[in-house]
Amino acid sequence: MKVDKNKLASVWGKEAQKPVFNAFSQDIETDVAIVGGGITGISTAYALNRAGFDVVVLEASEIGRGTTGYSTGNLYAPVDSRLAELEKKHGEELLKEVVASRVAAIDFIEQRVKEFGIACDFRRVPWHLFTTTEETNGREEILHEQRAALTAGLEVSSRVPAGFPLPVKDVITIPGQAQFDPLIYTRELAQNIHSSRCQIFENTKVLDVLDKNPCIVKTANGTVKAKQVIMATHTPKGIYLVHAAMEAKREFAMAVRLKGPLPNSAVYWHATRESQFSIRPYRSSAGDFLIVLGRSYAVGKENQMEKSYQSLEAYLRAHFEVASIEYVWAAQNYRGADHLPYIGKSIGNSNVYIATGFAADGLVYGTAAAMIISDLIQGNKNPWAKVYDPTRFTPAASAKTVLNENFNVGKELLKDYLFYDRSTELSTLKNGEAKVLTVDGEKVAAYRSDTGKLHLVSSVCPHMGCIVHWNDIETSWDCPCHGSRFSIEGEVLEGPAYKALSKPVNSTGNSQ
Ligand code: FES
Repeated sequence: MKVDKNKLASVWGKEAQKPVFNAFSQDIETDVAIVGGGITGISTAYALNRAGFDVVVLEASEIGRGTTGYSTGNLYAPVDSRLAELEKKHGEELLKEVVASRVAAIDFIEQRVKEFGIACDFRRVPWHLFTTTEETNGREEILHEQRAALTAGLEVSSRVPAGFPLPVKDVITIPGQAQFDPLIYTRELAQNIHSSRCQIFENTKVLDVLDKNPCIVKTANGTVKAKQVIMATHTPKGIYLVHAAMEAKREFAMAVRLKGPLPNSAVYWHATRESQFSIRPYRSSAGDFLIVLGRSYAVGKENQMEKSYQSLEAYLRAHFEVASIEYVWAAQNYRGADHLPYIGKSIGNSNVYIATGFAADGLVYGTAAAMIISDLIQGNKNPWAKVYDPTRFTPAASAKTVLNENFNVGKELLKDYLFYDRSTELSTLKNGEAKVLTVDGEKVAAYRSDTGKLHLVSSVCPHMGCIVHWNDIETSWDCPCHGSRFSIEGEVLEGPAYKALSKPVNSTGNSQ
């Protein structure tokens, strides 16, 4: 099962009108600068602008085209790592607060859809967690989740709904969750709030943020001075303590056409022995699709990536009559060490706010972050600010993951530097192949395209010096330490790195 690279694209975007915002090219002062124009950044811009603040949003590519446009469009109160797990780690009170914040965030989205008449097909649907008759275990997990959901105040049923698409063994259903088109929502929200007091810019990479009073946000063609800066970039750009406490993961998703009809509208989470698969139907003017999200893998781990893709395709073909695979994409996520996001001031006296660690639950957490950070900036009390405070210290809950994550970073650094490919011959690189190697004394990431063109960049990640690994499926260089990803020309695709992979100084590639 090889990925058809012609299918590599997200299912969203065919119906979304693309608003056109200019690139930033001036020096201005504002109240709040927001770095990142996904659901987190645009929702925060909405909330702050409504509260009377002047806002500038700087998006590196197009509004909603980052992680938001690679999500599944599912909105739900439960969490990927399970409510029962949250309760075990943090107790009943915190569980209730997390669920309350997520319920409020879904309501916020629904209110914006109504306020602006956004045609993003927002609809309330049930959420199901289930095992099928082929599973020999899983009942305990489902029962624990049922108990935790009830404790959190959610309505839960364990009846098997009519027309369920798979042979269910155990199931719980939480009604009143939601689905929408995340790209249409974010773009139309941006279009509606754009004004002289809420300026939105696209194709504007932020090169640096100086955490001062005021903060300085540098771009290639101008500078923003702002009293506060919000890093709405999925993981904060630059170096922050929270990077040491988060794992960077990716997950493949597919949108396929089925031979038969689509299942009823719902969020379906299938808890299998090997992983969880998230399933949703999507009906659009371009046709009917089943969207399925597979198991996650660590960024920069080549073997895991292939396996993750293959297991997703095998799962789909084993459980559904697939007529054709139409879209394949991967989405990145960052998991907080204690299974909670980091939302708020990065450190006590900073003027920079961060919103990260959303795991695979980012549309809802991103919206909750907008509500929390906009309250903090206004000086309002927010009921959930403490729950997600990035300066929280929960050693018992976080210790294992923090140790593992930093052990992993140290291991990657050591392994990659100790066992770095000693070969110096670019001429051995075949068409379609990529390698990290030493050329003229420099550590180089080399890729030869199918047409024989050689692309050379430094293999040293500019974030904190790890060695990048080849991502054969997405044709990119990925850093296993904190998830920065780069194009074959070295440009930053995502992650905490500000700078591109540099061009080698001595190696010209002439040895081809
Ligand atoms: Fe941190 Fe590469 S992303 S070292």
